[in-house]
Amino acid sequence: MNAPRVDVYLTHDHADRSLRADALRGLTSSPKWLPPKWFYDKRGSDLFEEITRLPEYYPTRAERSILDAYAGDIARRTGVHTLVELGSGSSDKTRLLLDALQGEGSLREFVPLDVSETALRDAVEALHTDYPALGLHGVVGDFTEHLGHIPGQAPRMVVFLGGTIGNFFPKERATFLGDLHNTLEPGEWFLLGVDLVKDPAALVPAYDDAAGVTAEFNRNVLAVLNRELSGDFDLPNYRHVAVWDAENEWIEMRLRATAAATVTLADLDLQIELAAGEEIRTEISSKFRREGIERELTAAGFSPDSWWTDPEGRFALSLARAT
Ligand code: SAH
Ligand code: AVI
Repeated sequence: MNAPRVDVYLTHDHADRSLRADALRGLTSSPKWLPPKWFYDKRGSDLFEEITRLPEYYPTRAERSILDAYAGDIARRTGVHTLVELGSGSSDKTRLLLDALQGEGSLREFVPLDVSETALRDAVEALHTDYPALGLHGVVGDFTEHLGHIPGQAPRMVVFLGGTIGNFFPKERATFLGDLHNTLEPGEWFLLGVDLVKDPAALVPAYDDAAGVTAEFNRNVLAVLNRELSGDFDLPNYRHVAVWDAENEWIEMRLRATAAATVTLADLDLQIELAAGEEIRTEISSKFRREGIERELTAAGFSPDSWWTDPEGRFALSLARAT
């Protein structure tokens, strides 16, 4: 069939401007913060894939087991022509959906969208080898900015897997769900993966593994700033911290300066001071309950249709329909 196509909406120039704006805002705020999308350069995307294989990081395995069990049901129920994946990364688990939709005979095109151009291009190339008959139309874009550019013939199903929706703050999440609803026609589908609230004794190690891979992933955002903005963060000075916020029901990842530091970001003409022990918040990862996320989906204009969990009830897939 056709050669795969990749549209780039997030040009290097655009990404550079938004990284500068985020670094300036976040690092001059109190407390300091950085948005998680900057983790995912080539190294960060590779580290995330390594995280998915860690014994402590259960979400990927749990979500895969749900897809293993129910991809056939999802395909029969939706029968879509186009599958769109937001924050697609390697699109590895998504193959279970592609297989099931191909089995139904409905699928014409797969549209993965990701900020990480290397991850996206690698995924498209591997998919083209393994699914030569499938139309592939990748989008290098930001799911908070480029939903309006999603191509593909209706009916479509948008999938957002891995629990990535948990990396939004609640207000950002409501905006995202509303924007997504506005891009879909009534009757189109949304399949959402959410990590569920559980004992912090299982949650915290998933974000603070014994091998230190998550710590390296976390510190990688500083390597990105050093490279892209001519920064001089001394990475070994930053300790990885993962805490469970019981009130907000989210894991918070931070980087804690072990000694006071003056950091220069030469491209921004910016010098920042960190006190010993001062923390930079780099990510939240919200955990969900069925009632709460279905309420949010409904408020955004979706009608919740089905809910599946893994046998241990750690992770869920929620299928909803745009109204
Ligand atoms: N869906 C995959 C990958 C999850 S990791 C899985 O379930 O395993 C999160 C992915 O979202 C990464 O590939 C990252 O590059 C992408 N991402 C993060 N922020 C993004 C944004 N604002 N817009 C688009 N993609 C984003
Ligand atoms: C991509 N996202 C859903 C991951 C998560 O679990 O919140 C990112 C991650 N952060 C640390 N480990 C994995």
